Amino acid sequence: MATAPRPSIVVLISGRGSNLRAIVESAPPCRIAAVISNRPAADGLAFARAHGITTEVVDHTAFAGAADPRTAFDAALMQAIDQHRPGLVVLAGFMRILTAGFVDHYAGRMINIHPSLLPAYPGLHTHRRALDDGVRLHGCTVHFVTSTLDSGPIVVQAAVPVHADDSEDTLSARVLEQEHRLYPQAVRWFAEGRLVIDGTRVRVLPAPDSSAAAAAAANHRVLVAPALDL
Ligand code: GAR
Repeated sequence: MATAPRPSIVVLISGRGSNLRAIVESAPPCRIAAVISNRPAADGLAFARAHGITTEVVDHTAFAGAADPRTAFDAALMQAIDQHRPGLVVLAGFMRILTAGFVDHYAGRMINIHPSLLPAYPGLHTHRRALDDGVRLHGCTVHFVTSTLDSGPIVVQAAVPVHADDSEDTLSARVLEQEHRLYPQAVRWFAEGRLVIDGTRVRVLPAPDSSAAAAAAANHRVLVAPALDL
């Protein structure tokens, strides 16, 4: 019997690449066609190369002299991505503000991970801001990308407790551990064709062979850290 072709994904990174690593190590049911970075020195590129994954650099600094650097960079990036004809674009620590044209081009097929429980704390320094506000719960979010920064239909979230003695480092490490659970799960759901965007919400379709309980659980879509006693 012929098997369905595996969908392919392109992962965009800017730095460390630990989420990329988590996705690769989860053996997702899709082919990672390429990893593209806007920074030539991104550590994640070395990891990808070591795993035989095609890498490319589209260096944003090379577009500084263009009449509209952001649009010129996004156009070059779009070209680099589209040669691989991905079914999904995965932003994994890709630290660029994207133009509306770029976002619209990948509508419904580009996801991002953000280190906060959106819509709280879009933007930078999320852990420091959570500590400054004295919140008791923090976490991370995977969402479809829209043209508003760090917003869009939420696929899945994970919550972690904030401890009284937390520093930015300890809190970010606790959140990152959850990011590494969440992102592979979201990529897998997409690759299995189980994510349906319904207005501002995302539904997770049950796996074809799942029980009613498993189907209901998939739609809770909040993974609570094991240490969290609510
Ligand atoms: C992650 O914490 C990710 O959530 C964050 O950058 C880090 C990248 O780490 N992304 C954003 O803040 C996007 N707004 P990684 O390179 O080790 O995956």
